[in-house]
Amino acid sequence: MSRLEGKTALVTGAGTGIGYAVAARFAREGARVVIADRDAEAASSAAEAIGDAARAAVMDISDEPSVEAAFGLLAAEGWSPDVVVANAGVQLFGKDAPAAELDLAVWKQTVDINLTGTFLTIKHALRAMLTAGAGGSIILTGSPTGLNGEGKDFTAYSATKAGIHGLARTVAAAYADRNIRVNTVVPAYTETSLVTTITSDPEARAAIIGRIPLGRAGAPEDVEGIMVFLASDDGAFATGGLFAVDGGMTTL
Ligand SMILES: NC(=O)c1ccc[n+]([C@@H]2O[C@H](COP(=O)([O-])OP(=O)(O)OC[C@H]3O[C@@H](n4cnc5c(N)ncnc54)[C@H](O)[C@@H]3O)[C@@H](O)[C@H]2O)c1
Repeated sequence: MSRLEGKTALVTGAGTGIGYAVAARFAREGARVVIADRDAEAASSAAEAIGDAARAAVMDISDEPSVEAAFGLLAAEGWSPDVVVANAGVQLFGKDAPAAELDLAVWKQTVDINLTGTFLTIKHALRAMLTAGAGGSIILTGSPTGLNGEGKDFTAYSATKAGIHGLARTVAAAYADRNIRVNTVVPAYTETSLVTTITSDPEARAAIIGRIPLGRAGAPEDVEGIMVFLASDDGAFATGGLFAVDGGMTTL
């Protein structure tokens, strides 16, 4: 369990859910981890739960000064990020809707966080990695909704996730010559606080699980292994890739 020994990782949205599971696993694999989240309390309790290897940083990915400040915190410690997981995101259940009914404010809020926020995270991750000159691994959290019709009732969310998939490929191509790798992980329906609207509705939950060939919901822990692979030297030749860990959902 030391595949990330000596590495420093920053994970956004790591106060809870998938980001927390990934950050905790990175720490168990020997990395120093920065728990970046806009929720200060969640970030501190996550860092406390992980222990000495973790630091909390308040970071709102949709606000550039806040993103810059979080990366500045790393620099002030004399650390540079070897791995950045741009994972934070929102899905505005009850507001996101088929296009004809979608309010512009909901569209903008989703784009600001999911797409612009991911871009800002990548931008400042790249700057820190380029300054250090030692390459790096950037991992984005995508979604099946950005790949097929799975997200037809979630126009804004699905569009931002498709945007993230494209962003990863473009940035991967642009920075491969500096040995900065950029990949996207696509989890399926994963039972975190993001999806309580579905989890708490037995009919909706059964319907979505029915669309997962492996026949169960995902857990945050299901995403850890692929993230460790992409963050570690095992993934040294992987860039621009889209890695589905979705119980087969995107095969349908
Ligand atoms: N849960 C799923 O079914 C599922 C499926 C596919 C993809 N995803 C993606 O996985 C990622 C993590 O989702 P999750 O299920 O763990 O969600 P979650 O709601 O459990 O956790 C998301 C975390 O991101 C933080 N966050 C939200 N907006 C932020 C911002 N502007 N700046 C910084 N932090 C912010 C929240 O405070 C929270 O701690 C998201 O990008 C989501 O779209 C989730």
